Amino acid sequence: MSRVLITGGVGFIGTQVARELLSEGHDVVLLDSYAQYISPFECHYKQAITDRLEGIREKLVIERCDARDKLDLIRSIQKYSPQRIIHLAALPLADLSNRYPDETVSTVVGTTVNILDIVKDLPGFERFVYVSSSMIYGDFHYLPADEEHSKNPKDVYGGTKLAAEVLTRSYGNRFSIPYTIVRPSAVYGPTDVNQRVSQKFLMSAFKGEPLVLHNGGEDKLDFTYITDIAHGICLATFEPKAESETFNITRGQGRSLREYADILKSYFPLLTVEELEVQNFRPKRGALDISKAQKILGYEPQVSLEDGIRKYVEYVLANYPGGGEPVMMPIFAKKRAPRLRAPKFKTTADVATPPAGADPLSMAEQIQENPIR
Ligand SMILES: NC(=O)c1ccc[n+]([C@@H]2O[C@H](COP(=O)([O-])OP(=O)(O)OC[C@H]3O[C@@H](n4cnc5c(N)ncnc54)[C@H](O)[C@@H]3O)[C@@H](O)[C@H]2O)c1
Repeated sequence: MSRVLITGGVGFIGTQVARELLSEGHDVVLLDSYAQYISPFECHYKQAITDRLEGIREKLVIERCDARDKLDLIRSIQKYSPQRIIHLAALPLADLSNRYPDETVSTVVGTTVNILDIVKDLPGFERFVYVSSSMIYGDFHYLPADEEHSKNPKDVYGGTKLAAEVLTRSYGNRFSIPYTIVRPSAVYGPTDVNQRVSQKFLMSAFKGEPLVLHNGGEDKLDFTYITDIAHGICLATFEPKAESETFNITRGQGRSLREYADILKSYFPLLTVEELEVQNFRPKRGALDISKAQKILGYEPQVSLEDGIRKYVEYVLANYPGGGEPVMMPIFAKKRAPRLRAPKFKTTADVATPPAGADPLSMAEQIQENPIR
């Protein structure tokens, strides 16, 4: 069994990785600065962290540390002497990265260099796992995109994630640090509070607000359920043959935002969709090739988009953020959650009307209104 330190460990992915590592008998240290990128009034951060740590809080150690602060990081890493480090700490949002490039560079590149520079001298260190992103590829030129696909990131986030990959390899080669790089994509599921598209869609459905689909909703993403990415990261952390290798770890399927909306509509038949034409700076993406992870790690994603959305809807139904009540309910809700009131609205026109007291700003506008500082 190993001692594993997870940077960004209190986050959406970090806590799920921790859960799996604990179940396998490892010692787990979560290192985190409790950074918040979305307004605390909107993201229900405390509830998310409470849910993320439910049942595991007493089984692990949480060390508050900003991984940009090298002295503090040295102290934390030396205190626990982990054999393996999974590096997740970052400003993880592409849109915000373009508005806060300095913070993105320091949290993505700066933290990576700090860790590598410390572990190169750490006795008995066995593996550094850098969690990168499929955003390093930029536009996909063929499908599914494998690990050798050209890398032309289109935003600060993708650029910094790629820079940190390169530095991981350079440090690894120069100082013989065993490393593995993992590239996830569009992770979704319970307790994400970063207002990525899947969370925005789901919350719009519960609030009885229309889903906003950009440019026909034809953009495809390789949506990956939280437990699948966590399992893939754990496999990459311990597989001996994964050393010095890079893996796409996703569902392996490109699904359009319209498909996502259609699946949600099967639970919320009164849900409406608003179509918007907008200038799109996002890379054109789709399915990633996961055959390398399947072959070397034995990774097999388990949760389809249909099943994942259902699990996510069930979670939100049982843990509605902020403790209030949803305006609109999924069709299976009455039997499962009798304490919640029945759908208030009968017509699609009614459903599109914001509920009394609701914030009049859309989620996207709220991000504009509530930047990370
Ligand atoms: N969620 C996705 O869809 C996705 C996709 C691809 C890659 N990733 C990568 O996975 C990682 C985790 O993403 P997530 O979705 O769990 O995000 P998250 O925001 O839930 O978690 C990130 C955690 O990092 C912590 N953190 C940030 N800066 C820090 C610092 N300087 N020192 C210590 N802790 C710090 C935050 O407090 C937070 O708990 C990120 O590196 C992200 O780029 C995520």
